[in-house]
Amino acid sequence: MTDKLSAADLWGGGHFADAQAPLMERLNASIDFDKLLWRHDLAGSRAHAAMLGAQGIITAEDLAAIRSGLDQIEQEIERGTLAFTPEREDIHLNIEARLIELVGEPGRRLHTARSRNDQVATDLKLYVRDAIDRADAMLVDLLAVLVGRAEEEAATAMPGFTHLQAAQPVTLGHHLLAYAEMFGRDRNRLADARRRLNECPLGAAALAGTSFPIDRKKTAQALGFDRPTANSLDSVSDRDFALDYLAAAAIAAVHLSRLAEELVLWSTPQFGFVRMAESFSTGSSIMPQKRNPDAAELLRGKAGRAFGNLQALLTTMKGLPLSYSKDMQEDKEPIFDAVTTLELGLEGAVGMLRGVTFDRARLASAAGVGFTTATDLADWLVRVLGLPFRSAHAVAGKAVRAAEERGCDLEQLPLASLQAIEPRINESVFEVLGVDRSLASRTSYGGTAPALVQAAARTARSRLLEPS
Ligand code: ARG
Repeated sequence: MTDKLSAADLWGGGHFADAQAPLMERLNASIDFDKLLWRHDLAGSRAHAAMLGAQGIITAEDLAAIRSGLDQIEQEIERGTLAFTPEREDIHLNIEARLIELVGEPGRRLHTARSRNDQVATDLKLYVRDAIDRADAMLVDLLAVLVGRAEEEAATAMPGFTHLQAAQPVTLGHHLLAYAEMFGRDRNRLADARRRLNECPLGAAALAGTSFPIDRKKTAQALGFDRPTANSLDSVSDRDFALDYLAAAAIAAVHLSRLAEELVLWSTPQFGFVRMAESFSTGSSIMPQKRNPDAAELLRGKAGRAFGNLQALLTTMKGLPLSYSKDMQEDKEPIFDAVTTLELGLEGAVGMLRGVTFDRARLASAAGVGFTTATDLADWLVRVLGLPFRSAHAVAGKAVRAAEERGCDLEQLPLASLQAIEPRINESVFEVLGVDRSLASRTSYGGTAPALVQAAARTARSRLLEPS
């Protein structure tokens, strides 16, 4: 009765007498989530069948029947007319059982020289590879927005912070380009992961290889892999490639979360540095004045899921003996969730950044608050009066104290007050105490001077945005 084929009919062979307990089916079946792999499973089966045909392991007629069956299955899944069922356990057996229903005996030959162990490893690698390519394209979009906005804000003064205390003036463009560096490294991490991933496990069979004269290079090439994996045991037990992706996704989530946190902070009335687009904000059901930066908060919050997914798979894999164990079926949900989370986060960041309005006047007036040019004063004392830096630091500290006591900025201190601290200070010190002078002077490599930031944005365009 081919139309009732269950998973047990495919693997039960002759040696299972008892039917599977319904509870076992619930525990065992993964189709509810691994159905996401259907395209990759079809691709793997097509490559495998073509290779079996080319090697004379199956006949040309069998190959043709398998191909037409797989084509039909593809159409059925696309149209949503193929009902996946938990009796068929997972995506691999759902597709194989349907193939047998459709084409009969040739369908029963597809699994020659193959196991679900190398099959699932191959499918998952194909899936993760696609995810890497999509994430990379999204990172490019995000970088383009960041670099574009940085270029616009190359000369916009703002306070730079350490310990979230006003530290020294920086430009907003410089601040945004700091994120561009992070997301550029995320691209590199994904590219590294892709390079390592791109070896094909298909043909490792259950764990030991196979006695059939298969051509693993052929299947590897057909599926866009650089080469076959070298060791059959490793092929079916390796999930490093997924961990690489999850780790890269978790680190990217850290970056998204930090950016999001700054937007949350900056969009408060207290900071007032930025206004989020209404299209990316929500109101409050009770407080009529509220504009909540929910999108940013969610990007910040979703980092927790990204970390959890990495932790989940690390924990699943730790301590597993070679080679395949069913524990590894637990790899999929964390991976799928990480993909959704990362992609939503990257797209969300692009949408949010496109819509934010920076309040340049507010940023500029905040740039000098908190004696942020005190270091410029110390540097002047070193440069002009020849003081050792430690002594200059102490003099500038006293000047800050004096300004605090008078309730004024450093720039507004009378020369006499400065000279009371260090008699050799002269009028020309005031030239370095303004925010704009401070910014323009930060010309060391990688510094925040507007001219450098302008140039950095230009090079970032070619350096960080190039195809990987
Ligand atoms: N659904 C299984 C998984 O995701 C496929 C591999 C099953 N292999 C086996 N030997 N039972 O890992």
